[in-house]
Amino acid sequence: MLRFKPGRKAATTEVPPNRAEPRALPEHVAIIMDGNGRWATRRGLPRIAGHKRGINSVRKITRHAKERGVKYLTLFAFSTENWLRPKDEVHGLFDLFRYYMRRECRTLAREGVRIRFIGDPSEMPEDIQSMMVEAQDMTASGDAMTLIVALNYGSRAEIVAATQRLAARAAAGEITPESIDDAAISAEMNTADFPDPDLIVRTSGEQRLSNFLLWQAAYSEFLFVDRHWPDFDEESFDECLTLYRDRDRRFGGLRKSG
Ligand code: IPE
Ligand code: IPE
Ligand code: MG
Repeated sequence: MLRFKPGRKAATTEVPPNRAEPRALPEHVAIIMDGNGRWATRRGLPRIAGHKRGINSVRKITRHAKERGVKYLTLFAFSTENWLRPKDEVHGLFDLFRYYMRRECRTLAREGVRIRFIGDPSEMPEDIQSMMVEAQDMTASGDAMTLIVALNYGSRAEIVAATQRLAARAAAGEITPESIDDAAISAEMNTADFPDPDLIVRTSGEQRLSNFLLWQAAYSEFLFVDRHWPDFDEESFDECLTLYRDRDRRFGGLRKSG
């Protein structure tokens, strides 16, 4: 991975790093899986049919990302704002989630994929909360890839909760306000155990974050792909990896060469 290393001497005689170094692979890819509804509507189908097809993409991309050597894959499955949708659609999404978990957990465990969740589980139906705990336990020893599912996730809610915890500790005299730094805030995020995403992909052409990983995306590369999520396949994922590879990540420093 091309990371800026403070103090590293500029090697002006090198050819540009993207051609000189082993191909850079993002360690952590995060995907905003968007466009299920439009995929269905365009075909005269109910929106839920698009969500159902979206599950195929989840399966395909999870397996493929692992095969490509990605270590962390985050999928945005349900946002804190998605409760604004009609009840039927929300319940339909939860039913599909149940279906996915029942069918996939064993496979993920067998394939060495560890599943983790970010977001607030307390507002989810109780049976889903139990499934989430079971899935994490069942796949805990997976070391090929971590699949992070963002469920009832909203970045502002995450930041608010983190701030409240830190403020409470400061008020109790356990920490000083001055000790609150980048690392202290990152450690309070749902993502504390994971590296920040190197690459954030959003399907379906919308160019916004929709409250996804606001803190963690400080130096992520962004790709906005025109395809709807049900049409996003292995080839689309590989195209994203290629585009990522050609990005010049500087992290506020200077190019290593050129
Ligand atoms: C993404 O597809 C799935 C979720 C947000 C749960 P959408 O349902 O947002 O599809 P569009 O954007 O309406 O096409
Ligand atoms: C973002 O997509 C949330 C998920 C993919 C789960 P939305 O479709 O909810 O986002 P907006 O409403 O277009 O911003
Ligand atoms: Mg959408």
